[in-house]
Amino acid sequence: MKALVTGVKGQLGYDVVKEMEKRGIEAVGVDIEEMDITDPMAVKKVITEANVDAVIHCAAYTAVDAAEDNKEICNKVNVDGTKNIAEVCKELNIKMMYISTDYVFNGQGETPWDPDCKDYAPLNVYGQSKLDGEKVVSSLVEKFFIVRIAWVFGKNGKNFIKTMLNVAKTHDKLTVVADQIGTPTYTYDLARLLVDMIVTDKYGYYHATNSEVSDENAGCKTGYISWFDFTKEIFRQAVLKGRDEYSEEKVEVSPVTTAEYGISKATRPFNSRLDKSKLEKNGFTPLPTWQDAINRYLDEIEF
Ligand SMILES: NC(=O)c1ccc[n+]([C@@H]2O[C@H](COP(=O)([O-])OP(=O)(O)OC[C@H]3O[C@@H](n4cnc5c(N)ncnc54)[C@H](OP(=O)(O)O)[C@@H]3O)[C@@H](O)[C@H]2O)c1
Repeated sequence: MKALVTGVKGQLGYDVVKEMEKRGIEAVGVDIEEMDITDPMAVKKVITEANVDAVIHCAAYTAVDAAEDNKEICNKVNVDGTKNIAEVCKELNIKMMYISTDYVFNGQGETPWDPDCKDYAPLNVYGQSKLDGEKVVSSLVEKFFIVRIAWVFGKNGKNFIKTMLNVAKTHDKLTVVADQIGTPTYTYDLARLLVDMIVTDKYGYYHATNSEVSDENAGCKTGYISWFDFTKEIFRQAVLKGRDEYSEEKVEVSPVTTAEYGISKATRPFNSRLDKSKLEKNGFTPLPTWQDAINRYLDEIEF
């Protein structure tokens, strides 16, 4: 197996290439400098010359709010760019893995979204572009994986955890949204699953985030969580690592509703719960719990 990975300078692509290298699987990591996915000629040349069995497509336009004002560039990258890759995968008859998002759904209700649910109704420009990318992949490529993830954090990039740890350095009171519910995804853990998957022929749609095992004795909120719960646990674990500046006495975290928090450019889903039971049904090992992921992540980064 040899695979080309797009978005190697981003959070997920970086960890996918590392995971492949760790396992002795040949990886060709590319980003915009090596292969601008919006350039069909470059895409064809780079993928063909790489002589790979699969493409793991992690590159994307990921600025959710900015996308509302930059629909054209967002679609160019997420739809046309994905199409350029899908066409080459089809022509070469190789596998394609496309990383998508819970934003393809309307975020209503409380039921976790099933990976094979087709009731798509994105709430924002970014979500629509990722859905259109999915449609391009599923219609063109025979051997496709579409893996939807949410609330991503990785070592290599900006994310919610880094933001909260930084903001707490200059604020003693924080308000965090408590009515958007889901589970985070640690790219290090996801990379292991994606590489497990790409070597199989168990194609189709999957959902993958860190697990939400319910445990009344865990000492923190378990199950699906809000951004508020997520923040509380990040700080709780930071304190356990000796960082007293994140204690409840030093920084007060209060829950607010999305409406109270105020308008963001892009509408966000309330229900980001992803049902991941299909993973085990198909013989894949699910990701560790999100609490465990935070613990390891805080050891990885400097804060
Ligand atoms: N982040 C999340 O919370 C989240 C949630 C759900 C799903 N996802 C999906 O998960 C995947 C990985 O996300 P991530 O957080 O790792 O993204 P990321 O950190 O933003 O990385 C994306 C990478 O793609 C590159 N890129 C942008 N335009 C390109 C182009 N025209 N040609 C080639 N490369 C280009 C970016 O380069 P520049 O930095 O130079 O633009 C960046 O290095 C994406 O498909 C995303 O849609 C993310």
